[in-house]
Amino acid sequence: EDPVREARFQARVDAEEKIEPNDWMPEGYRKTLVRQIAQHAHSEIVGMHPEGNWITRAPSLKRKAALLAKVQDEGGHGAYLYAAAETLGVSREELVEQLLNGKQKYSSIFNYPTLSWADMGIIGWLVDGAAIMNQIPLCRCSYGPYARAMIRICKEESFHQRQGYEIMVTLCRDGTPEQKAMAQEALNRWWWPVLMMFGPSDKDSQHTDKSMRWKIKRFTNDELRQKFVDATVPQGHYLGLTFPDADLKLNEETGHWEFGEIDWAEFKRVIAGDGPCNRQRMKQRKDATENGVWVREAALAYAEKRKARRDA
Ligand code: 3HC
Repeated sequence: EDPVREARFQARVDAEEKIEPNDWMPEGYRKTLVRQIAQHAHSEIVGMHPEGNWITRAPSLKRKAALLAKVQDEGGHGAYLYAAAETLGVSREELVEQLLNGKQKYSSIFNYPTLSWADMGIIGWLVDGAAIMNQIPLCRCSYGPYARAMIRICKEESFHQRQGYEIMVTLCRDGTPEQKAMAQEALNRWWWPVLMMFGPSDKDSQHTDKSMRWKIKRFTNDELRQKFVDATVPQGHYLGLTFPDADLKLNEETGHWEFGEIDWAEFKRVIAGDGPCNRQRMKQRKDATENGVWVREAALAYAEKRKARRDA
């Protein structure tokens, strides 16, 4: 601990200066960032699986091309985020190891199955919509490398959200009764898990206070969840869909949509490793890591040969 340096650091944060990798920072700040950026990177990588499941079954060439591009973007987002975490003195290999041995988390949402094509619409509209709501403020995060990575990621994320909503419009407004029913069924399954993406309620959030003081987070979990509900409910009504929440109602005075209680027991179960797809997702990641060893070895050997040739 070093109170003088900490005060100087906090003054820089308060003045909205960006903190860069070689700057002094409190150990807690560094740890918080490694935790959050690593979880975020893991979420992008694990997030490729639920949608990857539908690439071969996309209903048209246009849909397949868009879905492929989107899943590839997620891989890219994971790569930028691992690179941002590496500026804090951890290696990508260590982070992947901590994902695989369960020491680091990834977003709860990617532990739910994708059962119909409508799920591709819902993931873009709601999951990416929630991701953007959370990530736009991260573009102003006090840590420079994370903030800069988020700017590009948010641009791509907004294309993802729009492609999802366009799938929903096609199913709900131009679709057959079966397609509308499929869209409604998907909304029923995803709505509550999407609200859980924003994390525990403010009274249960362990990290919010510090992260707000350090300007890593700019809004609390509940604030972002409310902004998301307010933005999304009218979009759902435009689609002619009903939200699976009997308590959802507009408060005319505040202008906010009030919603029912989230099932926090389910949230805890899923982040503790016991959601519908946790085991399957981790097995796929372990297999992908093992099956990719030869590629990484070959790339390294090639890089070494090139270097030897250059140095010769
Ligand atoms: N899933 C899994 N774990 C979650 C969670 C969720 N939805 N929400 C919270 N948690 C975990 C926290 O990580 C923390 O656990 P830890 O101490 O072991 O790390 C614990 O629950 C308590 O939560 P806090 O509110 O105290 O934690 P934070 O202050 O870190 O807030 C957060 C949680 C809002 C998710 C924040 O970490 C954050 O903004 N992260 C960056 C965004 C992110 O990771 N998004 C991932 C999903 S979006 C995506 O991947 C894009 C898509 O296109 C693929």
